[in-house]
Amino acid sequence: MDKAAATDQGGSWYRPRPAGRRHHSAQLVPAVLALAALCTLLPVLTLSPLSGLFLTSSSVVPLHAHEILDKCAALHTKPAPPPDFANRTRSDRFVPGTRATLIRNATIWTGRNQGLEILKGNIFLDGGIIKAMGHATQSSVDSTAEYDIIDAHGAWVTPGIIDVHSHIGVGAAPALNGAEDGNSLKDPILPWLRALDGLNTHDDSYKLAVAGGVTTSLILPGSANAIGGQAFVIKLRPTKERSPTSLLLEPPFGLNGSNVDSRLPPRWRHMKHACGENPARVYGDTRMDDVWAWRKAYNKAREIKGAQDAFCEKALARDWDGLKGQTFPEDLQWESLVDILRGKVKVQTHCYEAVDFDNFVRLSQEFKFPVAAFHHAHEAYLVPEVLKKAYEHPPAIAMFAAFSRYKREAYRHSEFAPRILADNGIDVVMKSDHSAIVSRYLMNEASQAHYYGLPENIALASVISTPAKVLGLEHRIGYVREGYDADLVIWDSHPLSLGATPAQVFIDGIRQIPSPHVSVKPSSHNIAPNTPNFDREAAAALQYEGLPPLGPTESVQDSGMVVFVHVAHLWAVDHTGEKIVDVFGAQRRAGDGDSEHVVVVQGGRVVCSAASTAESCAAFLALPDIRVIDLRGGSVQPGLVTYGANLGLQEIAMEDSTVDGESPSPFAPGLSPLLEAALLPRAVDGLQFATRDALLAYRAGVTVGITAPPPSGFFGGLSTAFSVAAAHKLERGALVQDVTAVHISFGRGIPSVSTQVAALRELLLGSLEGTYAKWFKQVSEGKLPLVVEVGSADIIATLIELKSEVEAETQVPLKMTLEGGSEAHLLASELSAANVGIILKPPRSFPYTWSERRIAPGPPLSEDGPIAHLIKHNVTVGIGPQGVSGAAELSTWAVRNTRFDAGWAHYESPNVIPKEAALALGSINVKHLLGLETAVGEEDLVATIGGDLLDFEGKVVAIVSPRRGVVDLF
Ligand SMILES: *[C@@H]1O[C@H](CO)[C@@H](O)[C@H](O)[C@H]1NC(C)=O
Ligand SMILES: *[C@@H]1O[C@H](CO)[C@@H](O)[C@H](O)[C@H]1NC(C)=O
Ligand SMILES: *[C@@H]1O[C@H](CO)[C@@H](O)[C@H](O)[C@H]1NC(C)=O
Repeated sequence: MDKAAATDQGGSWYRPRPAGRRHHSAQLVPAVLALAALCTLLPVLTLSPLSGLFLTSSSVVPLHAHEILDKCAALHTKPAPPPDFANRTRSDRFVPGTRATLIRNATIWTGRNQGLEILKGNIFLDGGIIKAMGHATQSSVDSTAEYDIIDAHGAWVTPGIIDVHSHIGVGAAPALNGAEDGNSLKDPILPWLRALDGLNTHDDSYKLAVAGGVTTSLILPGSANAIGGQAFVIKLRPTKERSPTSLLLEPPFGLNGSNVDSRLPPRWRHMKHACGENPARVYGDTRMDDVWAWRKAYNKAREIKGAQDAFCEKALARDWDGLKGQTFPEDLQWESLVDILRGKVKVQTHCYEAVDFDNFVRLSQEFKFPVAAFHHAHEAYLVPEVLKKAYEHPPAIAMFAAFSRYKREAYRHSEFAPRILADNGIDVVMKSDHSAIVSRYLMNEASQAHYYGLPENIALASVISTPAKVLGLEHRIGYVREGYDADLVIWDSHPLSLGATPAQVFIDGIRQIPSPHVSVKPSSHNIAPNTPNFDREAAAALQYEGLPPLGPTESVQDSGMVVFVHVAHLWAVDHTGEKIVDVFGAQRRAGDGDSEHVVVVQGGRVVCSAASTAESCAAFLALPDIRVIDLRGGSVQPGLVTYGANLGLQEIAMEDSTVDGESPSPFAPGLSPLLEAALLPRAVDGLQFATRDALLAYRAGVTVGITAPPPSGFFGGLSTAFSVAAAHKLERGALVQDVTAVHISFGRGIPSVSTQVAALRELLLGSLEGTYAKWFKQVSEGKLPLVVEVGSADIIATLIELKSEVEAETQVPLKMTLEGGSEAHLLASELSAANVGIILKPPRSFPYTWSERRIAPGPPLSEDGPIAHLIKHNVTVGIGPQGVSGAAELSTWAVRNTRFDAGWAHYESPNVIPKEAALALGSINVKHLLGLETAVGEEDLVATIGGDLLDFEGKVVAIVSPRRGVVDLF
């Protein structure tokens, strides 16, 4: 995969690469962008009625005096909807011909009353707005000639999701050099640039985001600049005009030279700022430089504002003599900052750390402008009092749920930040930074925040009503209310339940999904998950300034005995090692009706399990010194196994001193002869233990990590399997298997795909000697799996052919596993016939690059996602982390979510992927596909309280490890 392209999409969390490295196009694009901005703006400047006063003699009233007076009067008007807005009967975005729709029998989360109001009833959409709801619908419906009816059968209906931080359209999916318009690198201060001028309408993300229920997004320039440019709110539905402008929601007046009606209150504008690492690194600056850059720019704006006020004071006093020879002071480059000082712009600021909040809060006080939101803001929860010192009001905090530790600024992230901020009265918003988190899955950010303790009403508001407020659009979106935009999502389950998926989405009253595929969710998902208690962990996050100890509270060694009572399920690997079975399910079927069981473990092994009423385990309960843990209907299940992130090879992806580094490419010039000379790196030699991502993964039920050296180009190296809980390599059980598989990575670029295939053929069939040849010989002899990172179906087809070519020669089956594989579903039968399995990474595909663009989107866009489709064809599937753009270095944080990703697969396709199969996706399948051998009975087990690993209800309380001979308690 072309990771450079995939990760450079302008996600503003990302540190843009310095110009010149792998990213040549970036230098050209800003020039084009800046030119475009100038061309469109120049007419405004030259045609402005205020560009000259008609003054012929000292006492003459200027020709355009009324315009001057209007303009001066308007300087102090604050943005607001027009006075009669609430009485509109039709939306300005109404598309003539759109049929009215009656949604019957909905459970409506309205957003009102702090998100606590839930109504049951009907909603009538007409004219692009919500015409009527509840009992009031009948008269509106009766007076409408034609309308469609949707019976929601009691399903949840919410307003459309609003993403306050997205780069849809200013990057592109698939990423292409010609569509990188997210960041100009011309200057740290660029308030005159406009994201609208770079908005690409051919981005696959629009449709996918809508399929996730996202209806409105703020499109921001990237974060390479201290001031990156103006951001714009768009609705994501396709328009007849197909133009960027037609996507805009309440664009500021005067855009592109249109007339400004100065009697109307202005509309909100948005300005992207960025603190800290990103702008500093791009320009080789320090934070001190960037703060000066802001102060200098705002000082300039303040001077202009002062001159305008002085001018207008005279104009409004009709002191035309005093204005003789003067024009209204304005400057196209700085007008947007002047508008900020006039309170007409929502200041949206990418800012992570305490030092940066403090800086920006001081800036807001020095120049007297409010800050709408701090975005990313990983340390905000540590400094709520700093936030409260901002000018006029504390900024909202727009953040990720779990994506973190990719750079120093995000190192002290806490999953408890949303609840801590909410407790401090700060507005909480969850955002995607699409495509950092794929916007389609924004509701899942709110769901995770809810899992970690954000109350249900605030969690739902965090992606719906609160962002509407942050965007200054709460008069028309973010609520289900009469007169509001007809942007609605009908959900297949409670929106905060795992894998909740829209069954239908409306934007401006227009149905967005022509024939939705809806999976049947269990009735337990009709209400919000009953989430665990994390009070202790949230307090520790604060106490330890974001770096709380993550190890177990206690480790019960060898002979110590732990008894789990009130266990609903014991899932264990069966004697073949190939299947996970529901042990109590079998007992229940055998006539033992008890649904609550006892599981006794000692020395890391299960020594007894039985119905709580049975005699067999009773003896253990009578022993002295046993520890009894009440799982309250929770479960015991196999420990999860992760592969696909650089877990164990890095701590902070963007801090070189904390990562293992890249291996040199054998294709690099100077390394010759090509294949013989190079060393084949083994991940085991670079392992780092007790990284925060590893320990957090452990607390989420991942017990074994399999990691390969990060490939540089084609060659990866030898992967290794290790215990994610171990403190160091020499500890008992720390290494699970030194070498698991040989890894390579296929991508387009240098050298060509055909050269890479030629190299692989040579390594598998040729007569090379040296380190590479030695390990590849083991592959061609069928002793070690070959793991190939690949997205494109075309390359996969070539690999299937090559496999049979090698097998024809060697007469032994070659063990081949694919990794990535967004397009693998296109060759499901061929992969099955060739006995090639796959680690899907990410498990929910996204068309990041050209070679992985043909995805199986899954519900509501298609019946099957990639996992279900492949499993239906008998392909062995494991899952890697959802992560960021399939890039291993940007996915280590996501390993902890393996349990949720597996659960999501189950809830999306419950018949194809029962819970046993879902657990296998994240455990034994990964092992088998990667050549990790575990003796029967040596599997780790994870005990969860209140539910299982596969949902938002269970919490890990114990991990049982036969290999390490311990039971770790949390
Ligand atoms: C809106 O409609 C209400 C009820 O018809 C009316 O009382 C009110 O004056 C209208 N408001 C505006 C601003 O037109
Ligand atoms: C709404 O749907 C639910 C679930 O299908 C059903 O039980 C209930 O009777 C319906 N109510 C109305 C008013 O149709
Ligand atoms: C998958 O395997 C099952 C059991 O071996 C078999 O019945 C089924 O036909 C196979 N399906 C496909 C699509 O190969």
